[in-house]
Order: sequence, then structure tokens, then C-alpha cells
Amino acid sequence: MHTVIEANNIHRIYQTKAGATQALRGVSFSVKSGEFLAIMGPSGSGKSTLMNIIGCLDKPTYGSYLLEGADVAAYSDDELADLRATRIGFVFQSFNLLPRSSILRNVMLPLIYTLCPRKEREKRAYAALRAVGLDEVFFDRRSNEISGGQMQRVAIARALVNNPALILADEPTGNLDTATGDMVLETFATLREQGRTIVLITHEPDVAAHADRVLYIRDGLMYTQPHPRGATTEQHPLPLSPPDPDPASRTEATKEAAKLVVPVTEEVH
Ligand SMILES: Nc1ncnc2c1ncn2[C@@H]1O[C@H](COP(=O)(O)OP(=O)(O)OP(=O)(O)O)[C@@H](O)[C@H]1O
Ligand SMILES: [Mg+2]
Repeated sequence: MHTVIEANNIHRIYQTKAGATQALRGVSFSVKSGEFLAIMGPSGSGKSTLMNIIGCLDKPTYGSYLLEGADVAAYSDDELADLRATRIGFVFQSFNLLPRSSILRNVMLPLIYTLCPRKEREKRAYAALRAVGLDEVFFDRRSNEISGGQMQRVAIARALVNNPALILADEPTGNLDTATGDMVLETFATLREQGRTIVLITHEPDVAAHADRVLYIRDGLMYTQPHPRGATTEQHPLPLSPPDPDPASRTEATKEAAKLVVPVTEEVH
């Protein structure tokens, strides 16, 4: 099983007029092919910053990031755009579908940036929509004429259509009610069974509980265990060179996430 993500001591400092913000302060972790990793953390902890870096939308200020073994720091903007179009499928909280285009067109869209002929684009879009369990009667419907859960499944199909090495999802159930969110999570569970590599960012423990492994981010540092509520004792961030994930502790961390009934963000809002 090859390594899809290797992050080593990643720092991201934002410079603004008001001063510098250290959004990430030395994050290291790796993700192997076929793993479903959830990253949890409160608002402002650095989740989207990390997502932008692993999605090649942004680069670390210091530290290295290897995607499928390639050091993307040296890539030009065009090379990065190409990498995103072919190797990464993005799923966002707000779906980001084109409202007046049909569902089928929305899913075919990422393939426009490739040399894939139209017939083949259509074939792949059909396959991706079937993979997320959307009924064929909806395929010609405009994307603003379906339910939220269906919209998110279309967005997941769009993320899949290029057969990417990595599916990145930032709060994919954040805008959905529980029942609809569960439907979307089932879709992720199916993708996991198909051997897809998934990194899902969430602050909902119920959502994280679906993953093989959970990592926690807080104040720009990553941890293998959730931070006890109200605790001020010493925390143990992940070492700079991540050890191989241990399947036993992975299950423990997943169970820990399921136990956290109060969303971590409540402390911050
Ligand atoms: N473009 C930016 N310029 C300056 N500071 C930023 C920028 N983006 C994020 N930050 C700061 O970096 C820190 C991490 O932000 P980030 O968006 O990664 O948090 P998050 O964990 O995704 O939060 P949320 O759950 O609210 O989406 C915050 O302190 C935020 O204010
Ligand atoms: Mg965010």
C-alpha cells in the first residue's frame, strides 16, 4: 500500500496588516492508500488551512508536503492546477454545484480539463453518479432542483469522476440535517469499501466515528487523542516524523471520537 499523503513539520503563517497568524505550527502525519482519515478540531484550529495545503491550493510556509511521493513545493501554478484536476477530488460544505446546469453536466465538468472525449465523459459521469447511489431519474434535473443530501452526493460524484488518488472533504455534512447527513456518510462508507483514500474534516464526533482513524487539530498542532474538555495539563502533539499508524490505537481513537457527544467547537463560538 503506497503513501498518498506525507506531511512533515508543516507550518503556515498568514501575514496580515494586523500581524502574523500561525495557523499551523508543525503538523506531521501520513495517509496510506485506501485509508479513511477524519481530522477533527474546533473552529479556527487550522483545519481548512491544512485542507488547502493537502489539496494543493496553498503551500506551507515551512515544512514539506509530498503527494503520492511528489514534493509539490517545486510545482508551478499550472502544474498544481493540473495535479488538482487529475489527482484530487474536493467535496465542500456548500456543495459548489453549478445551479442551472444538469446534474450530469455538473459531474462531467472536471473532465473538461482533461483530454477525455465527450462520450467517455458521459460514461464516467454516469458511473460516478451510480457509485453514490443517485437514482437515474435525477440525472437530467438541474442541480438546484434536488434535495441537500442529493446535492452533496452529486458533489461527491463530481469529486470521484476523475478517479482521484485522494478525496478531500471539508465539513461535507455541515449544511445537512442528521438524516440527510447520514445518507452522505453512508456514501463515504461505500467509497471506503471500494478502497478510496479519503480525508474528511469535521467537528462532529458522529461523523468522525465513520473513519478508520481520527487525528485532532488544536491551535495549529496535531494530536492522536482528543483534548479533554477544560483540561490544562500537558498535551502530546504528534512527533515530527509520524510513526506507522497502529491499527489498535486507530480503533481506540475512533471510539474516543464517538464518545465526545458535545461538539468541540462549542468552546470557541
Ligand atoms: N487568509 C487568511 N489570512 C489570515 N488569517 C487566516 C486566513 N485564513 C485563516 N486564518 C486564520 O488561521 C487560523 C486557522 O484558520 P482555519 O480557517 O484554518 O480554521 P478552521 O479550523 O478551518 O476553522 P472553522 O472550523 O471555523 O472553519 C485562524 O486563526 C484564522 O483566523
Ligand atoms: Mg474551516
